[in-house]
Amino acid sequence: MRFRSKLPDIGTTLFTVISRRALEEGALNIGQGFPAYPIDPRLGAAQQAAVAEGRNQYAPMEGVVELRERIAARLAASYGISIDPLAEITVTCGATEALYDAVQAVVSPGDEVIVFDPAYDAYEPAVRLAGGRCVRIPLAPPHFRYDWERVRDHLTGRTRLIVINNPQNPCCTVAARDDLQALAALIRDLPVSVLADEVYEHVVFDGRRHASVLAHPELRERAYVVFSFGKTLHATGWRVGYCVAPAPLTAELRRIHQFNTFSIAAPLQHAIARYLEVAPDAHAGLAAFFQAKRDLLAARLRGSGLEPVPAAGTYFQLVDYRALDGGVDVDFVDRLIREAKVAAIPLSPFYADPPGMTLLRLCIAKQDATLHAAADRLRDFAARLQVP
Ligand SMILES: Cc1ncc(COP(=O)(O)O)c(C=O)c1O
Repeated sequence: MRFRSKLPDIGTTLFTVISRRALEEGALNIGQGFPAYPIDPRLGAAQQAAVAEGRNQYAPMEGVVELRERIAARLAASYGISIDPLAEITVTCGATEALYDAVQAVVSPGDEVIVFDPAYDAYEPAVRLAGGRCVRIPLAPPHFRYDWERVRDHLTGRTRLIVINNPQNPCCTVAARDDLQALAALIRDLPVSVLADEVYEHVVFDGRRHASVLAHPELRERAYVVFSFGKTLHATGWRVGYCVAPAPLTAELRRIHQFNTFSIAAPLQHAIARYLEVAPDAHAGLAAFFQAKRDLLAARLRGSGLEPVPAAGTYFQLVDYRALDGGVDVDFVDRLIREAKVAAIPLSPFYADPPGMTLLRLCIAKQDATLHAAADRLRDFAARLQVP
């Protein structure tokens, strides 16, 4: 029997491939987005306590109630909104599952989904598995702004969903309230839902405030908004995220979630609930924490030929190597791994139709010593490539 793949062109994710290459070459991996430092010991202790207490059987399908209550309290404190923890919050296997479930809930065969490039890689496969098609609209460098007129031109009778990632990975940009206004105005009279990927909600720099779709009453009515404890608690391996949506949308999402993962690791949910009780503002220091790392890395790279691009949010930093004789970004990254012993992520694979570009994404969620060591290696390597 010949097996017919549903996603024949989708290989192992770029992040996995580059991390593997980094291991093979003994390179410092400041490409893939995972924090390389310990979690708060109180969170670890809470997990051990939950296991010892016997929280080891299936959690409720929708999520542990205490955790959902803590999430609602945190959303109220952050955005001044009232969310019903029972009817509007679902705990998922990371943000990734929430994204997948939301897409399956909304998209039917033949539907179109607007996605902005460069795009996080989980959106397109989810849309295609639902039988839909992504319409990918580029955010143009150097500022990666939304072109809402262009979005209007791409709205058709088949458009069902618009995916907005704010703060944006990999651009490190943040959407303004005006962007949300423009989006709301565009889809006001259309049967179009919104999927807001806000996993970096707390990582916005220079005194900015995150403009959540949840705080926009009109958009919130038609939105699935997705968050990740992996990002806020430096615990990506725990795979705990959640989705917030109005009750009817949540009911649809749960139809999928129920048969996808059913429920999420019980001791981890109890541990996070308990931790948020003792540290309700654990997220409050995240922006300053990452801003210091952004500033450290940017200062070390400025003038090296790997020029930092201003970053407004996320735990990434883009660098532009246009001053160097670097060639195509994917090849350049391979050289970086082999010759500089530093792994970074090229930007072109985040595009359906990549423009010629010389940008790389670095992850700043690393120990300061790692960032210094990576900067030393990158500076030395770039010095060898400088066009005289
Ligand atoms: C923009 C964006 N969305 C979603 C995710 C996935 O989050 P999780 O690890 O909680 O599944 C990531 C992880 O890197 C991300 O960068």
